[in-house]
Amino acid sequence: MKNMTALLLVLHLHTLAQVLLLSSFTAVESRCILFNFGDSNSDTGGFSAGLGFYLGPPSGRQFFHRTTGRFSDGRLYIDFLCQGLKINYLSPYLESSAPNFTHGVNFAVAGAATDPSVTFPLSTQVLQFLHFKNRTRELRPQGQAHTEKGFKEAVYSFDIGQNDISMAFTANLSYSQVIEQIPSILSRIKDALKTIYENGGTKLWIYNTGPLGCLPQTLALRKRNDSEIDDNGCLADYNNAAKVFNAGLLSLCNELNSEFKKATIVYTDMFAIKYDLIANHSLYGFERPLMACCGRGGPPYNYVNRMTCGQPTASPCPLGALFVSWDGVHYTEAANQLIAAKILSSKYSKPQVMLTSLCKDSN
Ligand SMILES: *[C@@H]1O[C@H](CO)[C@@H](O)[C@H](O)[C@H]1NC(C)=O
Ligand SMILES: *[C@@H]1O[C@H](CO)[C@@H](O)[C@H](O)[C@H]1NC(C)=O
Ligand SMILES: *[C@@H]1O[C@H](CO)[C@@H](O)[C@H](O)[C@H]1NC(C)=O
Ligand SMILES: *[C@@H]1O[C@H](CO)[C@@H](O)[C@H](O)[C@H]1NC(C)=O
Ligand SMILES: *[C@@H]1O[C@H](CO)[C@@H](O)[C@H](O)[C@H]1NC(C)=O
Repeated sequence: MKNMTALLLVLHLHTLAQVLLLSSFTAVESRCILFNFGDSNSDTGGFSAGLGFYLGPPSGRQFFHRTTGRFSDGRLYIDFLCQGLKINYLSPYLESSAPNFTHGVNFAVAGAATDPSVTFPLSTQVLQFLHFKNRTRELRPQGQAHTEKGFKEAVYSFDIGQNDISMAFTANLSYSQVIEQIPSILSRIKDALKTIYENGGTKLWIYNTGPLGCLPQTLALRKRNDSEIDDNGCLADYNNAAKVFNAGLLSLCNELNSEFKKATIVYTDMFAIKYDLIANHSLYGFERPLMACCGRGGPPYNYVNRMTCGQPTASPCPLGALFVSWDGVHYTEAANQLIAAKILSSKYSKPQVMLTSLCKDSN
């Protein structure tokens, strides 16, 4: 009996090792390079590394089986994109313990916004990139560093703006006051894109912002009465503000597409992708699109301030795959996998460019 258990354990470890080997084999196929800028939606551990913040279990339980600083039960959409691009998961720029920047760098940090008052605003992430590029030039004579061509052929992705909008709402600004903030958010995004372009980036991949009115946190903390919700139970003001921002971002992308002669600028409709998961949740096998898997308080939202996922006062649902939201703000691995598949399909992108063809070896 005892031997049997030991044998099963060995078999299990063996399979695990094979999986690990396979994933590292596929990863070296491609020479695509991705530099990502953003907030917790695409933070692969930057906040944890940068602030020494311990994101406790059960985060990571679905895939990594340990906490990695990702706000999810497993992989983020950007991890699934890396798999699709056949590159390693991106190391956070701020990770000092054995980062691997061969296939790019992730500058995204949870809590980031364009607003310069946050800890790692977009402008700082861009400066970090410029620092990285300068250091790379210095290190090039020693080999193993990105070439100028690598920087030129890399894809630069941006997923930012959600925290700017939600911060405006939580500061108790009225809807119209929130809308008045949007031009300055867009102008800071424009500055960032311009700096990347002026420093040799030609492939800019820009996500709009998701339906933040559908987040369990937003609904639990901000909904006052049922007249404020839309057809799918989401807070209409929050989603409308996101849509106004997104329309502005699309015009900005169109404007820059004609201004930056050498650039390809692709706008991807994250709002439509995420809203589809919520509106058509049963099609995707989700039972509770507006309820956090990991939280406190039970239906309808399972979200209570200061008793959020990762704290001892919160507990997770048994099956994350039945939920869109992991912790009330961030998506489950199951949702992230669908999000990535939709991004890779190019159906939500303007122009309809495949990320896999944009980010490829040009050597
Ligand atoms: C980083 O990743 C690349 C691609 O998978 C690999 O070839 C390289 O050996 C790794 N570098 C280190 C220091 O592990
Ligand atoms: C990068 O180096 C250039 C000079 O080569 C300098 O002007 C610039 O300020 C540097 N940027 C950073 C962020 O270090
Ligand atoms: C916003 O309003 C709520 C409810 O009136 C209040 O509890 C909260 O402290 C206010 N927040 C700010 C930042 O003023
Ligand atoms: C519900 O909230 C909206 C928006 O704040 C407000 O205009 C409306 O009067 C409220 N309705 C009720 C029944 O309280
Ligand atoms: C839900 O799915 C249907 C059928 O695929 C699609 O036409 C519709 O646009 C989806 N709804 C949303 C909000 O994406």
